[in-house]
Amino acid sequence: MHVVPGLKVLYFGTPVVLISTLNPDGSANLAPMSSAWWLGQSAMLGLGDASQTSANLKRHGECVLNLPSSAMAAAVDRIALTTGRTEVIERKRAQGYRHVADKFALGGLTRQESELVAPPRVAECPIQLECRVSARHPFGSPGVGATGFEVSVLRTHVEKDLVIPGTAYVDPLRWDPLIMKFTEFFGGGSNVHESRLAAGWQMPALR
Ligand SMILES: Cc1cc2nc3c(=O)[nH]c(=O)nc-3n(C[C@H](O)[C@H](O)[C@H](O)COP(=O)(O)O)c2cc1C
Repeated sequence: MHVVPGLKVLYFGTPVVLISTLNPDGSANLAPMSSAWWLGQSAMLGLGDASQTSANLKRHGECVLNLPSSAMAAAVDRIALTTGRTEVIERKRAQGYRHVADKFALGGLTRQESELVAPPRVAECPIQLECRVSARHPFGSPGVGATGFEVSVLRTHVEKDLVIPGTAYVDPLRWDPLIMKFTEFFGGGSNVHESRLAAGWQMPALR
């Protein structure tokens, strides 16, 4: 039997991405996001217009999509509810957001120089995709204030142990992505860490 609960959130489960972009002063910003999907050698990223990441992508157009494993949930959670924007808008402040200039330091994460783009990679992430924006689209119903950024993947870096030997494929049995499901963190089908984002959104407690 189906019911019609009028779902308020449609985050059914997508990989978490730590997206690094370049700030106007040349420093790097880092943000967790998970409205991302891939087709061929392109990706589509859904980002709120109030984020520093959106502003950076509109101005500079380069990014690295760093994919954390489920073992990195604690580091990702440390930089949740933070923004690289110096002025935090009221809606985000009410959810618990604060400005943090160096999110690599806050997350205990290491910058690794990229090869084709200016924003750095996150060394701890087993998969890193260097990308450039190819198109952007207004996204969602009026008032949502989001943009779909279409990016071309220029270069992929993958932890050697995850590549099926002698092939150009990631081993799905070894790759354990951090999944964001309804604002909660999952890996291997299990809830792996508490989520500040879920608290900020006042989601129902897990039982
Ligand atoms: C696990 C997780 C997933 C998120 N997914 C998205 C997303 O897909 N799109 C988005 O705009 N914000 C997402 N957020 C919220 C952003 O991290 C937030 O807007 C943040 O302020 C962005 O940082 P920035 O302002 O420095 O760019 C997510 C946050 C977390 C913790």
